[in-house]
Amino acid sequence: MHLWSFLGGISAIGGVTLAHVSPSEMDNFNIASALEHLGVEVWKIPALQSFSGVQSRSTENACSAACASLNFVFGSKVSAQDTAGYSNFTGSFWSVQQEEVQPHCVFRPTVNTEVSIAVLLSRFTGCEFAARSGGHAAFTGASSSPGGISIWFKDMNEVTLNEDKSVASIGPGNSWVSVYSALEPYGLAAVGGRAASIGVGGFVLGGGISYHSNLYGWACDNVESFEVVTASGLIITASESSYPDLYWALRGGGNNFGLVTKYNLYTIPCPEMYGGARTFLQTEFKEVINAFINVINNASVDGHAQQYVAFLQVNGTNLASAELTYTLNVANPEIFKQYRSIPAVSDTSSSKTLVQYVEYLETDNPFGLREVYWPITVHMDEDFLNWVVKTFYSMIPQVAHVSGAMPVIIYQGITEPILKKMTNYGGNALGLKASTGPIILMHVSCWWTNESDDNTVYEFINSFWDKVIAQAKSLGVDNDYIYMNYASMFQDPVAGYGDANKALLKKIAKNYDPAAVYQTLQPGYFKLNGAPVTDSF
Ligand SMILES: Cc1cc2nc3c(=O)[nH]c(=O)nc-3n(C[C@H](O)[C@H](O)[C@H](O)COP(=O)(O)OP(=O)(O)OC[C@H]3O[C@@H](n4cnc5c(N)ncnc54)[C@H](O)[C@@H]3O)c2cc1C
Ligand SMILES: *[C@@H]1O[C@H](CO)[C@@H](O)[C@H](O)[C@H]1NC(C)=O
Ligand SMILES: *[C@@H]1O[C@H](CO)[C@@H](O)[C@H](O)[C@H]1NC(C)=O
Ligand SMILES: *[C@@H]1O[C@H](CO)[C@@H](O)[C@H](O)[C@H]1NC(C)=O
Ligand SMILES: *[C@@H]1O[C@H](CO)[C@@H](O)[C@H](O)[C@H]1NC(C)=O
Repeated sequence: MHLWSFLGGISAIGGVTLAHVSPSEMDNFNIASALEHLGVEVWKIPALQSFSGVQSRSTENACSAACASLNFVFGSKVSAQDTAGYSNFTGSFWSVQQEEVQPHCVFRPTVNTEVSIAVLLSRFTGCEFAARSGGHAAFTGASSSPGGISIWFKDMNEVTLNEDKSVASIGPGNSWVSVYSALEPYGLAAVGGRAASIGVGGFVLGGGISYHSNLYGWACDNVESFEVVTASGLIITASESSYPDLYWALRGGGNNFGLVTKYNLYTIPCPEMYGGARTFLQTEFKEVINAFINVINNASVDGHAQQYVAFLQVNGTNLASAELTYTLNVANPEIFKQYRSIPAVSDTSSSKTLVQYVEYLETDNPFGLREVYWPITVHMDEDFLNWVVKTFYSMIPQVAHVSGAMPVIIYQGITEPILKKMTNYGGNALGLKASTGPIILMHVSCWWTNESDDNTVYEFINSFWDKVIAQAKSLGVDNDYIYMNYASMFQDPVAGYGDANKALLKKIAKNYDPAAVYQTLQPGYFKLNGAPVTDSF
């Protein structure tokens, strides 16, 4: 306890960290003392006066005690069910599955020590929690806790620059449009999301694919440091030189190590861009896939280009829509010439600032629907990529009767320059290597309207991927990596990082969080031991 107090005292004063002292908690770690150190006297909280520990408490009892305690300490920062603050929270997720979750209460911290207190009160009572940044994860419970505490970072939304403007310090309550809007007056941006309302919080911890990734890599490879609340409520800063193991783990390991209260991201220059969606009929698909592969292969020649291709069906017509983005205001760069020579049914390309770009893309992704994202990765093989598209169209009749269903398969490249940047600052946890050559990230996304159709949609995608993966294996182009930020609740991205990385992540979690608080009291997302949902459907 003395050691903990010492560290806690230091960190509470100014986020100062002592790299040579372990932040690991002692066997006799005392949650009440840790709370007291943060100014919260457990025995003065009415709801906790007769509370003797987690054992034999029901979830309901635990969470009513936890929420009453938060309310006692923080007042209006806590919203109970049937209040405006609560419905603002539940009503503003991207997917309906997340909106349907009813937490016991919603807590909106404004400073890092309040996050520490929430984590410690969860531990003290045994009430589960979840944390939300942008709320773009699609499935039930990913960033809102059923019956538990939902921590909403909304009000921790500062964006500040350091003196030489090389690093932006970004609160976890920011969406990418708020980050880009704050940095635009300086001619700067950060490597971040491609649609306006995506949150900084989840995006960076799972990887983070940006318009700028062929120049700088994924978002997680452009982090100077993270300010993190550990399971014992300590606030430490993890960087390449301070707690480097934690810094490595947070770059792909998701929410398993702590709650990040500040993302210190390297800034990049951000001139005006050019781009939009160029849409093709099925007669052109073969040529579109050829162009897609050529752009991937040219990524080291010209990193300004970024692309993804979505295959979908609109009113019975099969279409490929290629989002072609250039991070300079150049209308017809060499790298996109092949695409531009393919006859298109429409093309929305124009000059756009980054802020305009993410606002334009936002309109492709409406709120208020049931949603799933479900990815795999494969090695690059042109015939196989054509086969997958044909197979997709042959199987979508399975969801033809699903009300409002819009199944789409999207192809992206994890290119050689992106893979090379994954060794930045000591590397990340994703387990990807440039030596394998570029890989293809493919994901199926679907929205629909009726809960009674959930299993039909999940079964369709699952059977489609079963077929695709079997074919990939027979051709030797299968790959284990699963992108966490797109993963469905039935997938286990950490297993796909490889046995060695998974073992190392577990060791690091054990060091910083020996009681496995972030694994057990925060169960709703991808854990080190597996998928959030293991039932078959
Ligand atoms: C319309 C749309 C567009 C997208 N575009 C892109 C894109 O261009 N590139 C890309 O790579 N991905 C993209 N994604 C996927 C996106 O990266 C993920 O959905 C990501 O999880 C979103 O982060 P969030 O903060 O909004 O999500 P949230 O649902 O708030 O969080 C996701 C998970 O991260 C955890 N988390 C959030 N904040 C913190 C924190 N501060 N500390 C610890 N854990 C935290 C949450 O607890 C939750 O488990 C897109 C998704 C959608 C729906
Ligand atoms: C709910 O959201 C609205 C619109 O953003 C805002 O004006 C209002 O103050 C919010 N209410 C609470 C209680 O947070
Ligand atoms: C599809 O058909 C509907 C109904 O006929 C029509 O309202 C809609 O505009 C069509 N969409 C497109 C993209 O053509
Ligand atoms: C890209 O790839 C194609 C096909 O291999 C090639 O013809 C083209 O010149 C390449 N270069 C650039 C800069 O795009
Ligand atoms: C949802 O599904 C149920 C059961 O199949 C059906 O009765 C209902 O009409 C559907 N609702 C909508 C809006 O499609």
